[in-house]
Amino acid sequence: MRWMSVRYFIGYGLVLLSRISKAVLAKAFEAAALAEKFSVIIWTAPEIDRYAKGDWDHRSTVQTYSQLDQWLDETEKSLVEKYFTKRGELLNVACGAGREALLLARQGLRVTATDWGPGMITEAQRRAREAGLPIRFAVADMFSLPYREQTFDYLLLTNISYSYLFPRWRRIRFLRQAHSVQKPGSIFIISFARARGGSKARLGLLETLFMKLSRWPPFNREYEPGDQFSGSLTHFFHSEDLAQEFQEAQFLIKDWLWDKGYAVLVKL
Ligand SMILES: C[S@@+](CC[C@H](N)C(=O)[O-])C[C@H]1O[C@@H](n2cnc3c(N)ncnc32)[C@H](O)[C@@H]1O
Repeated sequence: MRWMSVRYFIGYGLVLLSRISKAVLAKAFEAAALAEKFSVIIWTAPEIDRYAKGDWDHRSTVQTYSQLDQWLDETEKSLVEKYFTKRGELLNVACGAGREALLLARQGLRVTATDWGPGMITEAQRRAREAGLPIRFAVADMFSLPYREQTFDYLLLTNISYSYLFPRWRRIRFLRQAHSVQKPGSIFIISFARARGGSKARLGLLETLFMKLSRWPPFNREYEPGDQFSGSLTHFFHSEDLAQEFQEAQFLIKDWLWDKGYAVLVKL
């Protein structure tokens, strides 16, 4: 009986030790993650781009994306089926290793696809070549699309990639370019990351601190609430702010799938 209770307490001690260690490690992990969150108030937009470009085009990321050859979810698939109804000219921006470009070229669209990562584009080209698909690729920043006005019937930007653009005025610049390369009446399916709470909520603790810091050099004066380092550098939107950006670039919002992180825009 005595041995049984000694054994019981040893076992209990081990369980307790494990729980305490896990709690301490979780706190240490949180503290370690806190440091990288400050990157958005330290780096200016070009520095954010410089880091993000290297990170996206890293060999391991390219390899991960080169394995993707299905729709990510039902929303992407159903939007494409609903809106890309004819075999027109499609521009797929931030195409990565070619997932959606390949899928859509297989369905008969005439696809042009761009990404700022040479590694991503090389991989996308290899996959298109092997599949025998005539996709035109270009290494291009979303801020400088190398196409003439009114070239495309459709634009596609998936996988929250609109949220990788900083700050607001540069997002508007991108939207205006996108608008100019689209034909009148054409459709733009666009994906973004949503802030928790959806519509405008109070600023969080870090956001309030960052807004204060952003008034002083050498901090990032263009920091905006919603800019975050969260695995990758991402802007998380409130719905009214996002709708305003689309409208400022003269787009009509045809479909608003806020919960799914997608909108469908039309160039009038
Ligand atoms: C989440 S991945 C999506 C890739 C692909 N659309 C997919 O869903 O498989 C985001 C892509 O956006 C690209 N990207 C991010 N910022 C960009 C920019 N400013 N100009 C061009 N491409 C950009 C990255 O290189 C990366 O390939």
